[in-house]
Amino acid sequence: MTKRICIIGAGPSGLAQLRAFQSAAEMGAEIPEIVCYEKQSDWGGLWNYTWRTGTDEFGNNCHGSMYRYLWSNGPKEGLEFADYTFEEHFGKPIASYPPRAVLFDYIKGRVEKAGVRKWVQFNTIVRDVREVDGGFEVTVRDESTDSESSSVFDHVIVASGHFSVPNVPEYPGFEGFNGRILHAHDFRDAREFTGKDIMIMGTSYSAEDIGSQCWKYGCKSIVQSCRGGSTGYKWPENWKEVAGLDRVEGKTCYFTDGNEATVDAIILCTGYKHHFPFLPDSLRLKTANVLASDDLYKGVVWNHDPRFFYLGMQDQWYTFNMFDAQAWWVRDAIMGKIDIPDIAAREADVARRKAEEAALEDDFACIDYQGAYTQELIDETDYPSFDIPASNAAFYAWKKHKKKDIMTFRNNGYVSPMTGTEAPPHHTPWKDALDDSLEDYLKI
Ligand SMILES: Cc1cc2nc3c(=O)[nH]c(=O)nc-3n(C[C@H](O)[C@H](O)[C@H](O)COP(=O)(O)OP(=O)(O)OC[C@H]3O[C@@H](n4cnc5c(N)ncnc54)[C@H](O)[C@@H]3O)c2cc1C
Ligand SMILES: NC(=O)c1ccc[n+]([C@@H]2O[C@H](COP(=O)([O-])OP(=O)(O)OC[C@H]3O[C@@H](n4cnc5c(N)ncnc54)[C@H](OP(=O)(O)O)[C@@H]3O)[C@@H](O)[C@H]2O)c1
Repeated sequence: MTKRICIIGAGPSGLAQLRAFQSAAEMGAEIPEIVCYEKQSDWGGLWNYTWRTGTDEFGNNCHGSMYRYLWSNGPKEGLEFADYTFEEHFGKPIASYPPRAVLFDYIKGRVEKAGVRKWVQFNTIVRDVREVDGGFEVTVRDESTDSESSSVFDHVIVASGHFSVPNVPEYPGFEGFNGRILHAHDFRDAREFTGKDIMIMGTSYSAEDIGSQCWKYGCKSIVQSCRGGSTGYKWPENWKEVAGLDRVEGKTCYFTDGNEATVDAIILCTGYKHHFPFLPDSLRLKTANVLASDDLYKGVVWNHDPRFFYLGMQDQWYTFNMFDAQAWWVRDAIMGKIDIPDIAAREADVARRKAEEAALEDDFACIDYQGAYTQELIDETDYPSFDIPASNAAFYAWKKHKKKDIMTFRNNGYVSPMTGTEAPPHHTPWKDALDDSLEDYLKI
């Protein structure tokens, strides 16, 4: 009997899985029956921008964490699909840090070409997954018809992402703050803060990018609360780093190093939670945002039930092409081309990966590690191999360019690991490019 496969989520990870199966079918393989449930009305995951915050149109948690004017924070040479290059999609080489709309278009282009939309049930949220005889019973709500239904699958692949449910700390005085407190998940338009004094909490990607956006679109001043020490970046003169937050009184923030700042808004760039409300404890991944997750053999197989898989749950240097490597591997495991070993070997694999991660000394080592992981999975499938050292090199150069000047790093271009072409510079420096539309970006 034909196997039935359930994929939860049609973001870049879920779409990689659809493309992986379609590519096997294209080469004549008999593939399982595929059903992909997507709670939003379109595919693309986080790249499918929404103006909504809080709840979506159906009253479920709003998935979107992206904002207007977002440009890729890493070089596109680190995420290019090996089976569908930027040049193939756009018909010419493009610059290295595309805005969201450009990457959304690229992601869609591959799956539209593959013709896999028929496998996705949109506006359908997975509410519950249970282990039953012969597989998993998946219960979904089709929000467009307001009806619930269940069906049984041989395998479930969780591709629901992990940058959507915010981690929201509380500090003394928040309840009395006379301004707006929001998490990065709910940030949408930097122009809201034009002319305002803002406090940004956190030192990672959201903090640096949301702060940079607000600076670019004319906020008055930025105070960045860095509880673990300085970021080491050279910020503009109206941007000051201070220590962790101690308390808030009225509109004034007091920091543990004695600094204080009176601000109009506090933006908590404090990261996200791996959150799977639809899974029972027996299937639910519990992990921080790390390179080697607990309980996942090869980073994808749920150790406690190897018929159950996760995609894209790692901390991400590599993204789209790593999701592809994972999806091709999971496809081949499901189709019996790859053997999954016994629990002892699976646990040993996880322990080894965790020990290797613990020994990594800096970000460059982390990049190499995730590049090697991606290569390892690719070597076990027919996903087109690509020049991982060239991708690593683009990441190294990106790190160095950021260090040199965090407000100009996006003006650089790198060599594609797929085509060997060097990206042309963008027509306008990032800080002056206020129009983030696809049409504007692709203008010569
Ligand atoms: C602000 C921000 C900026 C980023 N910028 C970059 C960048 O510049 N470059 C880069 O490479 N990466 C970036 N990322 C990382 C991002 O995680 C990946 O690019 C990518 O979107 C991950 O794909 P995914 O499919 O794993 O998850 P997601 O994109 O989150 O997609 C998950 C999908 O699952 C669906 N879903 C969730 N729960 C359910 C459910 N119960 N039932 C049905 N469907 C469900 C969601 O609606 C969504 O469509 C960024 C992340 C954030 C938060
Ligand atoms: N333009 C873009 O492409 C773009 C923009 C934004 C985000 N992203 C992506 O989004 C993903 C998530 O990044 P992220 O920055 O949101 O999350 P993150 O990398 O997990 O960083 C979380 C930050 O919050 C801080 N933090 C956590 N709890 C805190 C608390 N209780 N008090 C004070 N500080 C606290 C952490 O500080 P400690 O280190 O001290 O724990 C850390 O600085 C990344 O993959 C990133 O690439 C991309």
